[in-house]
Amino acid sequence: MSEGAAKKEEKPRKFQAIRGTRDLLPPETALWNRVEQTAHKVFTTFGFGEIRLPIFEDTELFRRSIGQDTDVVSKEMYTFEDRPSELPDPSKFAEIGPFLQEVRRAFDKGEIPKTVANREALARFGEKFTAFAEEYQRLPLGAMGGLPDLPAYKAAFLEAFHFTRTIKLGEEVTLRPEATASVCRAYVEHGMSNLPQPVKLYYMGPMFRRERPQKGRYRQFYQIGAEVLGGSDAPAIDAEVIEMVMTFFDRLELQGVQLDINSIGCRECRPKYVESLRAELLKVKDQLGPDSQRRIETNPLRVLDSKVESEQGIIATLPRIADHLCEACAAHYSGVKRQLEMRGVFFRENWRLVRGLDYYMRTSFEITAQGLGAQNAVCGGGRYDGLVELLGGPPTKGIGFAIGEDRLILSLQESGKAPGQQGRDVYIAWMGERAHATAIRAAKDLRKAGFSVELPPGEQKFGKALSQADKLGAKHALILGDNEVSEGLWTLKTLADGSQAKYTEPDLLEHLRKQKALSS
Ligand code: HAM
Repeated sequence: MSEGAAKKEEKPRKFQAIRGTRDLLPPETALWNRVEQTAHKVFTTFGFGEIRLPIFEDTELFRRSIGQDTDVVSKEMYTFEDRPSELPDPSKFAEIGPFLQEVRRAFDKGEIPKTVANREALARFGEKFTAFAEEYQRLPLGAMGGLPDLPAYKAAFLEAFHFTRTIKLGEEVTLRPEATASVCRAYVEHGMSNLPQPVKLYYMGPMFRRERPQKGRYRQFYQIGAEVLGGSDAPAIDAEVIEMVMTFFDRLELQGVQLDINSIGCRECRPKYVESLRAELLKVKDQLGPDSQRRIETNPLRVLDSKVESEQGIIATLPRIADHLCEACAAHYSGVKRQLEMRGVFFRENWRLVRGLDYYMRTSFEITAQGLGAQNAVCGGGRYDGLVELLGGPPTKGIGFAIGEDRLILSLQESGKAPGQQGRDVYIAWMGERAHATAIRAAKDLRKAGFSVELPPGEQKFGKALSQADKLGAKHALILGDNEVSEGLWTLKTLADGSQAKYTEPDLLEHLRKQKALSS
């Protein structure tokens, strides 16, 4: 059957957005736009410039930055192999030797990406082949008269098969789960350390994490974030970054905003604290749930994050990082608090605030807002000195945050800060060919003056046109019939009270302008 015929036979099927992803529709998108416009404005007043980043990156970038043992990297990333080339087809080779040779050639020429994993797979395959060739040499003459029942021969064949399955033909790429790593990558790639420091960048866009979807948690979600890279690590920088988010939230009239801060120390003091925490946790291990028990080994700090009810009493008695900070970290933390006070930014110290990504050090913060239920963190951020260096750049200070835009919008909606349905300013009810030409010109002029205009494509009886205007929430109906056109006097009906009046074209524009100014 031809492809076309097969297509015809396919039954129609309804598709749905993939679990954890969703469509954003009007009028809600108007609120998204308002939020984003406000971010552009506020961040610009703080001297930040916008950076637009790719949606996918080399997987290794996230592994290194965020950390192999974090939930994000170990469980939640959308990773796939980009597939630019084909491995030589093993069935085209009568023997394994020439096949191996061909694979080696493709690897040397870069037709198979020269990744560490591929280099190792090739070496392993080569070793197996040599072992197999040695076995083969030991065979009595004539033993090859059929498929020999030799363990080494079979092993080599299996290995060849396995190799063709496991070798990564393309680069391994990941849909970005966050953007700090990408900003640091871009900072290094574009030599931004040569620019006046610090470099202040912000971004917005979709991120991807394979989490269990629930209210405020999606697999494709949106962040608005900012990063300050380079220059000093003065506490004033931390405080100003936090002040900027708070100003943004204030501008949006976000309700119930609560800022929590903490210092999680540095490479000097944190390991010692983590050890004492681990030692204490081991003493109470059997009173903890399976997640926390596992975390005693992998990342004891994350136990402090636990929401499990029965663990709360135990956690309250654990050692606190504030008592273990080295002198420099303690001084930095007091500096940040003082700077926040100078800026009139209210905060709560939360010694249990640890962030889920490995790159953080010293200042960590989270902001919660009203109406979000369990997923109430609307912003998270912190300092990450050293991350740029880890990505091959010069030693560089860094601090930033990311706002969960979906949650921000949810909170604004719950507190009634969302704009309602945006109706049209003017619905043009026209009848007759001459009136149509005038209607097209009127729509053009009104739109140019900034009014939202609905111009129906076909003629309608006035009664039908008015009810359509009403359904669309139009404020006014502009009535254009043959009389209006020949008189040069247009009828404008105000739908809210049914009143109507006649205007010349320039008077009409003036009237609408005044009305708009009054209502905004
Ligand atoms: P994060 O805490 O992983 O930090 O994410 C920041 C914010 O993104 C969260 O507070 C939350 O509002 C939102 N968010 C995270 N996951 C989801 C999800 N599955 N659905 C909806 N919203 C979500 C970072 O991403 C860091 N890169 C922040 C940063 C920038 N630190 C320094 N610079």
